[in-house]
Amino acid sequence: MSRVTIRPPRASDVKQYAETVRRSAAHIGQWNPVEPDGLPDLLQRQGPGLRTYLIIDRADGGFVGKCNVSNIVMGRFCNAALGYDSYLPYAGTGRMTEGMRLVVDRCFADQLVGGLGLHRLEISVQPENERSIALARRLGFRHEGFTPRMLFLDGAWRDHERFALTAEEWRPLGAQEE
Ligand SMILES: CC(C)(COP(=O)(O)OP(=O)(O)OC[C@H]1O[C@@H](n2cnc3c(N)ncnc32)[C@H](O)[C@@H]1OP(=O)(O)O)[C@@H](O)C(=O)NCCC(=O)NCCS
Repeated sequence: MSRVTIRPPRASDVKQYAETVRRSAAHIGQWNPVEPDGLPDLLQRQGPGLRTYLIIDRADGGFVGKCNVSNIVMGRFCNAALGYDSYLPYAGTGRMTEGMRLVVDRCFADQLVGGLGLHRLEISVQPENERSIALARRLGFRHEGFTPRMLFLDGAWRDHERFALTAEEWRPLGAQEE
C-alpha cells in the first residue's frame, strides 16, 4: 500500500504549509520560488485551469510535497502542466514519487469518478535539475524536446527540457495489483 495519500489543500492547512515550506526553503529554492505564505492565494486561484494536490504522509500527516496541475485546457486538448516540490524531511525517500503517481492517476481518471479527465500531461524542467528529470522519467514521461528561455524563474528566462505523457501510456493504478 502507498505510504502517501493526496488531497486538495484547504484553509486549515495554511499554518502547517507555511512551516513546511519554510523548513524546506533551501531544498526548493534552487529551482522553484519559495512562498511559505502563498497557500491562501493558491486556494483563491483554484478553478477550472488550476488544481493543486498536497501529498500527505499516511503515518504522521506531514506534507510530503505539493503538485500544481496548471494550464488545464479541456476541449480537444485535455492537457495540463505539472509543477511540484517535495518537502523535508520526506524528500529523497521515494514518497514524492508515490504521491506523483497518485496525482497522474487522478489527472487521467474520468471526471465521473472524480478525476480531471485529462489526456496529456507536461513536465518542464531546467536541464541541470537532475532530481526532477529523474522523477519525470520514473513516472514514465517521455522527453519531447528542449525550449530555450521558456519560464521566468529567479530573475531570468530559463531554458527547459520538456517531458510529456498521454493517457494511452499510463496504466491506471486501480488496474494494478495491490
Ligand atoms: C524534484 C523533486 C520534487 C524530486 O523529489 P524527490 O524528493 O527526489 O522524490 P522522492 O522522494 O520520490 O525521491 C526519490 C529518490 O529517493 C530514493 N529513495 C530512497 N528511498 C526510497 C524508497 N523507499 N522508494 C523509492 N525511492 C527511494 C530514490 O532512489 C530516488 O533517488 P534518485 O533520484 O537518486 O534515484 C525534489 O527534488 C524537489 O522538490 N526539488 C526542488 C524543487 C524542484 O526542483 N521542483 C521541480 C521543478 S521542475
